[in-house]
Amino acid sequence: MRSESEVPIPDNPYSIPVADRLKRLPPYLFGKINKVKYEKRVAGIDVIDLGMGNPTDPPDPLIQEKMTQALQDPKNHRYSVSNGIGNLRAEVSKRYWKRYGVRLNPDDEIIACIGSKEGYSHMCLGLMGPGDTAIVPSPTFPIHMYSVMLAAGNVIALDVREPEKFLQNVAYTCDHLYPKPKVVVVNFPHNPSSTVIEADFYVELVKLAKKYNFMVISDFAYADICFDGYVAPSFLATPGAIDVGVELTSMSKSYSMAGWRIGFCAGNKEMVRALSTIKGYYDYGIFQAIQIAAIVAMRHCDASIETLAQKYQNRRDALCDGLERLGWEIERPKAGMFVWAKIPDQYASMGSIDFSMKLLEEGGVAVSPGRGFGEDGEGYLRLAIVENTQRLRQAVREIGKCAPVATAEASP
Ligand SMILES: Cc1ncc(COP(=O)(O)O)c(C=O)c1O
Repeated sequence: MRSESEVPIPDNPYSIPVADRLKRLPPYLFGKINKVKYEKRVAGIDVIDLGMGNPTDPPDPLIQEKMTQALQDPKNHRYSVSNGIGNLRAEVSKRYWKRYGVRLNPDDEIIACIGSKEGYSHMCLGLMGPGDTAIVPSPTFPIHMYSVMLAAGNVIALDVREPEKFLQNVAYTCDHLYPKPKVVVVNFPHNPSSTVIEADFYVELVKLAKKYNFMVISDFAYADICFDGYVAPSFLATPGAIDVGVELTSMSKSYSMAGWRIGFCAGNKEMVRALSTIKGYYDYGIFQAIQIAAIVAMRHCDASIETLAQKYQNRRDALCDGLERLGWEIERPKAGMFVWAKIPDQYASMGSIDFSMKLLEEGGVAVSPGRGFGEDGEGYLRLAIVENTQRLRQAVREIGKCAPVATAEASP
């Protein structure tokens, strides 16, 4: 008899057979940039990181104090409820009423999520399956597309940079596709392009939703980061919106609570119930101390939202002024946390990934290449205005040194 050590080892080594749904995901396009960013940091080299919309400002001290206090209460360390505690949902309802004149029942039209991204992802899982199609915005914040794909649905990405055209393309797609799209995802102020809309856009969208029988998911993560007097409209404030859709809001940007992981999904009760069902199986809710601090934030920290929006506006100006002086063509965003900048013609042939890599390697400035948001993003960079104005001016100087733009007079 052969001993175990003599058993021949097959040519093909053992491999872990992960689920097919993971194989539907493309390679991570930010991988190479993140690796260089990490290596520079480890080597002690300063990187001005405008790559991610990750706020650098801490939340209002009142929110932090409430959190510290809530930590002292033993009952807050137990599992919470997966939909969010009643007082929290009631506070969201009050906020919708106060800001947008929208009445929402906290019992069945609002649910708390572990960040709006979790709410969105699990909503897709609750609504979609094989053979279903969702229309998502393009250029695409990756999770808008990949949550649909992870739910085994198909994706049609439509350019949102001209919102009127987007609506026409939604109608065209619904007229020509069979089966018709089941879900339309919108996200204004848009990440990455910073496109904004006015309330009449949603009136049209609701009409289309009723005509073609699709559901709407509005990702309203940048609701409060608006500039120059612009006010981002809520989808739910549109008559009839609650019949066809939901809206996701987030504490991450408005209150600089990104790491706390808390957001909300509100609107159509059947859709909220679908999400609640999935969450009931998957999670035990958000750490209760965070929920309590979030109530205080919504109740008492409106002034800090205004201060924060003004801070982002100053950063936007510092970055846009600087890039314009370098000769870049810039469209100043009216909202959001990003400058969506066209790559100067002289560097366009490099492609956004190589150009971003050049800025990182030679200038120590990390940005996101437009290509990371799909083909429609090629030719652009997304710069997050998360660093202070001094650092942003420094970033502009570094970009100017490593990628100078030849002016029309200077070039032959
Ligand atoms: C459009 C959009 N939606 C959702 C999120 C995630 O928000 P949250 O932190 O609430 O999950 C982001 C974060 O970058 C975003 O840009």
